[in-house]
Amino acid sequence: MGISVPDAARIRRASHRDHHILHQLEVTHFGDDQFSRSQLRHLITRANATTYVLEMDGKIVGSAIMVWRKNSRIGRLYSILISNEVQGRGLGKLLLTKCEADAKKRGCTRVSLEVRADNRPAIALYLKYGYEIIDSLPGYYADGSNGLKMLKKLS
Ligand SMILES: CC(C)(COP(=O)(O)OP(=O)(O)OC[C@H]1O[C@@H](n2cnc3c(N)ncnc32)[C@H](O)[C@@H]1OP(=O)(O)O)[C@@H](O)C(=O)NCCC(=O)NCCS
Repeated sequence: MGISVPDAARIRRASHRDHHILHQLEVTHFGDDQFSRSQLRHLITRANATTYVLEMDGKIVGSAIMVWRKNSRIGRLYSILISNEVQGRGLGKLLLTKCEADAKKRGCTRVSLEVRADNRPAIALYLKYGYEIIDSLPGYYADGSNGLKMLKKLS
């Protein structure tokens, strides 16, 4: 391979102008919206969350959302998404690493997340990078699907 994809990728904080494209990415990849446009706009602008976008060649191909709680040293990975056409090239890892680095900078000692119990690619990513399954969440999702709670201790 020539230039490696992660080298050409850039992660930045989302601005309010990005909420349309982030919503589009969600609808394309989840078949539905996980967050409505207004929820996304709110997440992008609220003080206790950070929304990241990952760009390649000026095009947004990924996103992640971290939620921070006052008086908590646990950062919550609320969402992470890499566009289908660029999955499997290390970009999910790149975004996850950025979220964890920012969590550390904010004084967090752990990162927690919830994931659908049947989402094999995501669970594989989290297990590979040090997350442990700490709880099962029966019927956690709106459609009745089961979830898993995962946690990573930041070194
Ligand atoms: C989960 C997701 C973010 C992974 O992004 P990605 O860029 O494809 O992941 P990476 O290329 O960085 O992969 C890192 C590791 O994750 C694991 N992994 C990623 N995709 C996988 C798959 N389809 N099957 C098995 N393992 C997988 C592997 O361990 C991989 O390491 P390896 O390539 O050295 O084996 C991506 O599949 C995605 O956006 N899915 C749809 C949205 C979603 O489900 N988000 C999570 C819940 S909100």
